[in-house]
Amino acid sequence: MTRLATVVLPVAGSGTRMRPATDATAKELLPIYDTPLLLFALEEAVASGAQRLVFVSRATKPGISNYVEHLMSQEPSFAGVEVRSVDQGEPLGLGHAVLSARPEVLPGPVGVLLPDDLILGAPVLAEMADVFDPASMDCLAAAQRVDRAESSRYGMFDLAMASVGSAVLPARTLVEKPDPADAPSDLAVVGRYVLSEKIWPVLEKTTEGAGGEIQLTDAIAGLDRLYAFQFSGCRYDCGDKEGWFSATQAVRSDRLRKETVAAE
Ligand code: G1P
Repeated sequence: MTRLATVVLPVAGSGTRMRPATDATAKELLPIYDTPLLLFALEEAVASGAQRLVFVSRATKPGISNYVEHLMSQEPSFAGVEVRSVDQGEPLGLGHAVLSARPEVLPGPVGVLLPDDLILGAPVLAEMADVFDPASMDCLAAAQRVDRAESSRYGMFDLAMASVGSAVLPARTLVEKPDPADAPSDLAVVGRYVLSEKIWPVLEKTTEGAGGEIQLTDAIAGLDRLYAFQFSGCRYDCGDKEGWFSATQAVRSDRLRKETVAAE
């Protein structure tokens, strides 16, 4: 197992798709039934072995640091975890956000976790840390099959072989948000990455890509040994109202089921 000394959490986004709720609070703090979205991400990051969490934020989202400070001082499961925060400055894209974290990242492979992508079930980043082999991998990114018509919402894998049944698949490259006609497969990247230190010099040279943003996908495409990790849990896009609502229903069902079992 690779222990991820650092997990980077990009939280600078403005949550446009969740307005007007995000006029009042950060989308990462919105409750999924009874639990702030961010808490799921933090628990998953810590399960992957993180000794340090690096938040990439904006000065105008102070609620996140208050909540994280509260958790770190009150919750025994976060005892000893270091927290750092960097200001992204300008919203120049996910690649730019991850690069902004670099001064605070400890040596070794780094985990990147996008809190918007809630994955219920086994902690995916911890599973990925388990299978990440620094001797043979430069990037392991979480993957799920999507409808090809939706490829323009995701980074899409170009797979080296069409293998079925295996959780870890070698990939030739990644393409950010291609039109469905140009999508190299129906396997999309979702917000969990384990990246070797080789990502840093590549990110530094990465220029604007899809949507005029500096894309993490483009930097990853500049690495050699890419792998997709097909996880078993269920993923919800909580940056979107329908995804948030489905996640809320799923967490509610899970809570009620556990209460019923406990009462029996
Ligand atoms: C980001 C990544 C994209 C990935 C997606 C998963 O896009 O750039 O490659 O598929 O997260 O949620 P965003 O959703 O920030 O536009």
